[in-house]
Formats: sequence, C-alpha cells, structure tokens
Amino acid sequence: MKVLVIGGGAREHALCRSLSLDPDVSALYCAPGNAGIAEVAELRPVDALDGEAVAALAADIGADLVVVGPEAPLVAGVADAVRAAGIPVFGPSAEAAQLEGSKAFAKDVMAAAGVPTARSYVCTTPEEVDAALDAFGAPYVVKDDGLAAGKGVVVTEDLAAARAHALACDRVVIEEYLDGPEVSLFAITDGVTVVPLQPAQDFKRALDGDQGPNTGGMGAYSPLPWADPKLVDEVMELVLQPTVDELRRRGTPFSGLLYAGLAITSRGTRVIEFNARFGDPETQVVLARLRTPLARVLLNAANGTLADEPPLVWREDAAVTVVIASHNYPGTPRTGDPIEGLADVAAQDAPDAYVLHAGTRREGGAVVSAGGRVLSVTATGSDLAQAREKAYTAVARIRLDGSQHRTDIAAKAAGLG
Ligand code: AMP
Ligand code: GLY
Repeated sequence: MKVLVIGGGAREHALCRSLSLDPDVSALYCAPGNAGIAEVAELRPVDALDGEAVAALAADIGADLVVVGPEAPLVAGVADAVRAAGIPVFGPSAEAAQLEGSKAFAKDVMAAAGVPTARSYVCTTPEEVDAALDAFGAPYVVKDDGLAAGKGVVVTEDLAAARAHALACDRVVIEEYLDGPEVSLFAITDGVTVVPLQPAQDFKRALDGDQGPNTGGMGAYSPLPWADPKLVDEVMELVLQPTVDELRRRGTPFSGLLYAGLAITSRGTRVIEFNARFGDPETQVVLARLRTPLARVLLNAANGTLADEPPLVWREDAAVTVVIASHNYPGTPRTGDPIEGLADVAAQDAPDAYVLHAGTRREGGAVVSAGGRVLSVTATGSDLAQAREKAYTAVARIRLDGSQHRTDIAAKAAGLG
C-alpha cells in the first residue's frame, strides 16, 4: 500500500514512523513533512491547504491512502477533494470537521446527541458577553469560536482579561468552568463503527505546575494509572458513539479521528472540546503503545469497513513525550537556531527513546528550528517512571539555544509529585 501523509508536525512524524514500520506499507510519502520525517518518508512539497493540489499529488504518487494530519486542511476541505478524486482518505469532510472548526457547532451537536459538556452561551455583542460572564462567574472560560491552534481559549479569574479576550473575538463561546483532570481520548471511526484508542493526558500550559499560557501541548503520557478502568467504555457510550451517530443523522458523517478532550469532574465526565484529527502531542504516546499495524486500520476507516477490523492490540509499556519548544513559544517563536544532539539520542537511547520532529528543517548539513514546538522527545518503558526517565535522559542530550521544556511531564502520574 502506498500512503501519503499530509502535514509536517510531530504528530505526522509519529504517524509516519508507525506507517514506516508497517509491513503493509510499500511506499510512504509526506507533504510537506519536516527534517525528521525525511528519514522515514519521501517528502513532497505541497500547499497542504489546497485540496486540488493534494489530490493531484496523491494521484501522481498513485496513493492507495491519504492521511490528513492537521485540522486546517480538514476544515479547508482537503479530504473532500481527495475523496472526490476517488482516492481513499483518512480524515473528515469540511462539514464534519466543523466539530473542531466551530465551538458553537460542536456545542449544538453535543446538545442534540445528549453528550455531557460545560453549559455555555454563544455571544456576538458586548451585552451578551457581559451577561454570560456574570451568569457563570469566575474562573471565566472564554473561547474564540474559530480555529486557533489551542490558543484561542482564555481561562482566567480576571474579569477584565476575560472581557478583553471576548471582545477581541467576532463570535465567542463563554462557558462554565470545569474542574478536574483532563483526558484525551481518540477514536477511529468510519462514520458508523467507532474504535477507541488508549487514553492519554496532555499538558496544555507552557510552564511547570500548569502555570503560564495555554499552548498546543507541551508533553503527554499514556496510560493513565489514576483513571477509572471503565473510562473508555463510559466515554464510548456517552460521548463518542452518540456524536458519530448524530453527525451521520445530520447527513454529515464523520470519518477519521474523533478526538474527545474530556474533564473528569466531581459531577462526572464532561467534554471540553472535540478535535477532528489526532492530537499533538498525545498521538506520540498513543501510537508508541499500539502494536496493531496502523495502515489497514486507517484504510478500513477511510473505506467504511472498520467493522471488519479485529480488536486493536496494545503494548503493556507506558509512554511519555516531552516537547522542546523555541524561545518565546507560545508567543512569536524564534526560529533558525541549530539543533544539536539528535545523533547522540539515536546512538545512545534508541530504540526506547527517539526524537520526533515538529518545527524543523534542514539547512545545509544542519537541522534548525522552524516553528514554536520544535521536537517531541518520546520514550517507552515498563512503567511511567521508567518511560519518563528515558525521555528526560534524551531531552538532556538535545541542545537548542533558548529552548524551553516542562520538567514535570507525567511526574504526578508516575508517583513522583
Ligand atoms: P480547548 O481549546 O477548548 O481545548 O481549551 C484549551 C484548554 O483550556 C483546555 O485544555 C483546558 O485546559 C482549558 N479549558 C477549556 N474549557 C474549559 C472549561 N470549560 N473549564 C476549564 N478549563 C477549560
Ligand atoms: N494536544 C492538544 C491538541 O492536539 O489539540
């Protein structure tokens, strides 16, 4: 099977790594990719937001499957264009991707499907904003309605800051604050059948101790030793299957990866958000634990034959990933800095620990930073404490001027904090 992956972050590197190890995959391409993905896949330049260009590239390659990684191409209709060209594609239509692309649409689907989520108001005027902030009180949760790469959400005790963020958005969702730990649970679906993956936890704040601004995600781990063993079944029944059923009922079936961002509150499990694609960095740890080869599962989802798929098989191992970000991330990051130590990790820590690339590119003989999140250093071990130690050992070998990473990824879950 020839597979083309669209995107160029650490999530796509994790996907390409798994696909490159899959005996069913005879050729692997990634567009546009990055310096790390180039080691496991053939890179092709493409405007990932241009559906016709992606479809033409897929046809040119003779791809049997296209996997669309990031949300922006999905919301722009790239999966629709590939599907229209008769090529199987893993990823939802633009209409179904509104589950991620519009917080208001997601709330509407959840209300119709009876999915538990935070109570919320959609506001478009300053009067509505003030009434909603007043109704819920602090801490305030204010979300830009559109796509914002995890940075459109402000959670604050400060009324003036909440109001300022709300007024800077055209359309804003203001909602009830959800207390309790967060869990990311992914499911692969063909629009009818839903196959959950293993849960992971993401660290959204920039700094240790969950301080600092929200980011795209600074690290992740799986499994969650503290979670109720029935969590996956519960979320399947209360969230994932009803959401997939509701989207099908509306005539906009969702096929691809349905990501449920959950809060485990004292009053039960609630959906914080949906995404329409694999999470980053959670994918790095979830795929590190998946034993079942990936390509056929994704192809069955693309073809509507997921019911034929035997149950997924998981490793007993735990996995941890630590994101190394550029100077000033999540603000405007500094780029173009050389990255050193990659060969040391490959020589000394592989295969248990390895570096997945996010924002990197090759410049002459060097690999340099090219984005906010630069690397996602991933490791597996017999338990979280061991996986974490291996990940941080590898992190310590990497040198990137001005870079930052959290030092507390998975610490509490490993019983260390
Ligand atoms: P989102 O983009 O909706 O996932 O929001 C980003 C982050 O903001 C989440 O991962 C949470 O940490 C936080 N957040 C979002 N909604 C809420 C909420 N209703 N209550 C508490 N925290 C929230
Ligand atoms: N890790 C959060 C996300 O992928 O949106």
